[in-house]
Amino acid sequence: MNAEQRTAVPHSAPVAVVTGASRGLGLALARALAADGWQLVITARGAAELAAAEAGLAAVTKVVALPGSIVDDDHRAHLAEAAERLGGASLLVNNAGTLNGAAAPGSEPLPRLADYPLADLLETFEVNALAPIALTQLVLPQLRGHAGAVLNISSDAAVVAYPGWGGYGASKAALDLATAVLAREEPELRVWAVDPGGMRTRMLQEASPGEDISGEALPEDVAPVLLGLLRDRTPSGRYRAEDLAISAVTAVLAAPAADRAGR
Ligand SMILES: NC(=O)c1ccc[n+]([C@@H]2O[C@H](COP(=O)([O-])OP(=O)(O)OC[C@H]3O[C@@H](n4cnc5c(N)ncnc54)[C@H](OP(=O)(O)O)[C@@H]3O)[C@@H](O)[C@H]2O)c1
Repeated sequence: MNAEQRTAVPHSAPVAVVTGASRGLGLALARALAADGWQLVITARGAAELAAAEAGLAAVTKVVALPGSIVDDDHRAHLAEAAERLGGASLLVNNAGTLNGAAAPGSEPLPRLADYPLADLLETFEVNALAPIALTQLVLPQLRGHAGAVLNISSDAAVVAYPGWGGYGASKAALDLATAVLAREEPELRVWAVDPGGMRTRMLQEASPGEDISGEALPEDVAPVLLGLLRDRTPSGRYRAEDLAISAVTAVLAAPAADRAGR
């Protein structure tokens, strides 16, 4: 019995494509979407980790897991086709990201621009900027059909000049600008770039080898904040998770006491 047969989900359930959903923020977003009744198309390169994520999600919703890299043209086409078969995507989450492209394990995670190996820089831009734009192109007709949304995961490194973060940060800045332009070109959609803030994930640990990152936020705590954008159909734009969390708390406190009590 496959995952589709195991989980009874209404055919009308909305569909989300989530890249980089095998761990970290992508998996947390996929779990939160599944809990909200979304069907999912998920991807990451590591097949075993993706299969483990799929197994957990399949207990909750209909999920199609396709291992592969988002820089691969055929793979992106398969993701879009899978979403179409489920009824068409209402949400594309471009979450998959890389710190430093194809850098060999053990090499400098954050080279200065003066020494940045160009092959690694090219791969960084391909994963963090070009592939999200290319996947958006493929899924856009489905999103238009559902007045849907694109959620692009950015970083504070896109706007702050941290030494060592020039390659990663410049690629995220490119994604930010593409997000802003797409929002203007597709006014019927919602198109967001969100800086999720520091999170306790493999990527952050790789950026800071040997450092204690236990004080950083858990992606499971950040994901619901990001999905508040969907619930509120927040205007297109660039947001910081930190600010979204403060707005959500302020809105709750401003609500009449009877509303807060659920009456
Ligand atoms: N953690 C932070 O503090 C932080 C801060 C700001 C922004 N962000 C952003 O948040 C997003 C999620 O990062 P994370 O911290 O959750 O990192 P993570 O735990 O390392 O997860 C990254 C995910 O992306 C996948 N991925 C990487 N390259 C891919 C490719 N070419 N094709 C398909 N999937 C790919 C990974 O799986 P495979 O490796 O198996 O492919 C994994 O599922 C990224 O866009 C990152 O830039 C993170």
